[in-house]
Amino acid sequence: MKIILIGASGTIGKRIQERLAKKNEIVLASRSGADIQVDITDSASIEKMFNSVTGVDAVSCAAGPAKFGPLAELTEEDFYVGIRGKMMGQVNLVRIGQGYLNDGGSFTLTTGILADDPVMGSAALSLVNGAVNSFAVAAAMELPRGLRCNVVCPTVVEDSAEAYEDFFPGYDPAPMEKVVNAYVRAIENKITGKIIRIY
Ligand SMILES: NC(=O)c1ccc[n+]([C@@H]2O[C@H](COP(=O)([O-])OP(=O)(O)OC[C@H]3O[C@@H](n4cnc5c(N)ncnc54)[C@H](OP(=O)(O)O)[C@@H]3O)[C@@H](O)[C@H]2O)c1
Repeated sequence: MKIILIGASGTIGKRIQERLAKKNEIVLASRSGADIQVDITDSASIEKMFNSVTGVDAVSCAAGPAKFGPLAELTEEDFYVGIRGKMMGQVNLVRIGQGYLNDGGSFTLTTGILADDPVMGSAALSLVNGAVNSFAVAAAMELPRGLRCNVVCPTVVEDSAEAYEDFFPGYDPAPMEKVVNAYVRAIENKITGKIIRIY
């Protein structure tokens, strides 16, 4: 399969790439240092990305800018970081990408445990995680040509556990293999409209 992996240089993206590259042609995408430059906060940039790669079977997104911080300190603009980034960035990948992917192709988006199980400081991030989960289930019903849309929704992942330990007290990190398996399942199995929770 030919797969565009957005956020390939990130903590989760790196692990997805390692696995998917064994059996697939991976096109790495992010704002810098990848095969293709894309900024998911900008729909023109997304359109340009899809125009520059042909024959794509799957898009997997492990990028999602959003703001973490105490509700009392979050500005309206802080909320828009996640709304433009993690939410509309991923919505636009599906909205625009549905016109480009091969028949039966798939979109795999990323949200996170904060949709269901918030922690202190997560209001802006919980908001967009929940929105993307709901979007994916609804969008899956309408996608044409057998296209599919799923979400991987992990708790804090093993590779980030140390960095985030103060924000996720008492949370068991998700093993990286389990996280990567969820992306593989969403891409290779014929499921659609699923939120794969790894809690
Ligand atoms: N880490 C965790 O424990 C965890 C748990 C649950 C959910 N998540 C979610 O999983 C996703 C990935 O997390 P992560 O920890 O792997 O992130 P990360 O290490 O910060 O990596 C983010 C990746 O996304 C790319 N990126 C950032 N902004 C972008 C943009 N506007 N357009 C295109 N690419 C962009 C970055 O590359 P460039 O800077 O080159 O663009 C990088 O490759 C996020 O949505 C996060 O909320 C993470």
